[in-house]
Amino acid sequence: MELPKRMADMAKDVDGRLMHYLDYGKYPKLRKAMIHYPEAGGKRMRPVLAMLVAEAVGKRGKETMPFGCALEIIHNFTLVHDDVMDKDEMRRGRPAVHVLYDEPTAIIAGDALFARAYEILCDTDVPGEDLRRLVRTVSQTVYLIAEGQQMDIDFEARHTVGVEEYVLMVEEKTAVLFACAAEGGAIIAGGTDQQVRDMKECARLWGIGFQIWDDVLGILGDERKTGKPVGNDIRNGKRTLIIVHAMEQLKRPCSDRDTLLKALGNEHASAEEVSEAIAVLERTGSIDFVTKQAQDYARKAKELLQCLPPSEEKNMISTLIDYAVGRDR
Ligand code: IPE
Ligand code: IPE
Ligand code: MG
Ligand code: MG
Repeated sequence: MELPKRMADMAKDVDGRLMHYLDYGKYPKLRKAMIHYPEAGGKRMRPVLAMLVAEAVGKRGKETMPFGCALEIIHNFTLVHDDVMDKDEMRRGRPAVHVLYDEPTAIIAGDALFARAYEILCDTDVPGEDLRRLVRTVSQTVYLIAEGQQMDIDFEARHTVGVEEYVLMVEEKTAVLFACAAEGGAIIAGGTDQQVRDMKECARLWGIGFQIWDDVLGILGDERKTGKPVGNDIRNGKRTLIIVHAMEQLKRPCSDRDTLLKALGNEHASAEEVSEAIAVLERTGSIDFVTKQAQDYARKAKELLQCLPPSEEKNMISTLIDYAVGRDR
């Protein structure tokens, strides 16, 4: 599924502004490490969402660019650190920052991106009180991402994780940034309290569906398209919804359970062991189950679009929601 041309154009505009914003600082190695992921591309879904919401609420898409770029930079900062935590060596088809440089540089580059994001956020052209609201929601969001990432890591060592715990974890590590994008777009466009609330909730639900689908891509995706290593979630023992569901089905001892546990959390699992584990996940119906879950979240998210008046941008948000739970990259 491809996104409409107008959305691709918006993502391109974001690319240009990001490069401008990140042309910063005097220490070449740090500059290069900071820009390594942003210049490699990415879907730019968070800024595009923020701008579409601002346009749909009150025709203030352009004015939302600095806010959107600040969120995209925060997203990139979390990716730099995430790849260290997840021991992933590839992102957007390139070597990870900690591989190309080293772990200390990845930590510093992440911190530097985070700092830069706040300076850009201050460029948002809104009354002082609204700027305070934006700074507060962005700060709360980043705190929640930290909690979600901590849960993600702690869950790796746990034998079982419940569906509710999984949903809370992905809400915090992923969905809150989408929620913040939609909320901020609505604030910048002068939306009503209800529009701000509903758009935030819409993007939160969508973000959960987005991450569930991302976990499917981590298992069944094509590395050439996702730009990320496939199968590492299994080797890392990630408690994705697919695994949570499969472990529920395989409570009693059986050969499928043994096959899955042989690869799950086993750093040295061979490609064959990983593909046998994936075959188990197909047999337990776990892939089908989570695909339906992702689509359910997207459907609930779209119901909240009712708070917006009819517009082309509103339709584009709906398309973006569908895209996120069926994309191949
Ligand atoms: C990847 O996000 C990290 C997750 C929250 C799953 P994206 O899939 O939006 O990554 P890019 O920015 O397009 O590379
Ligand atoms: C990404 O989570 C969430 C954040 C970076 C905050 P994942 O670890 O599941 O995403 P990928 O698969 O590495 O992109
Ligand atoms: Mg990761
Ligand atoms: Mg991770």
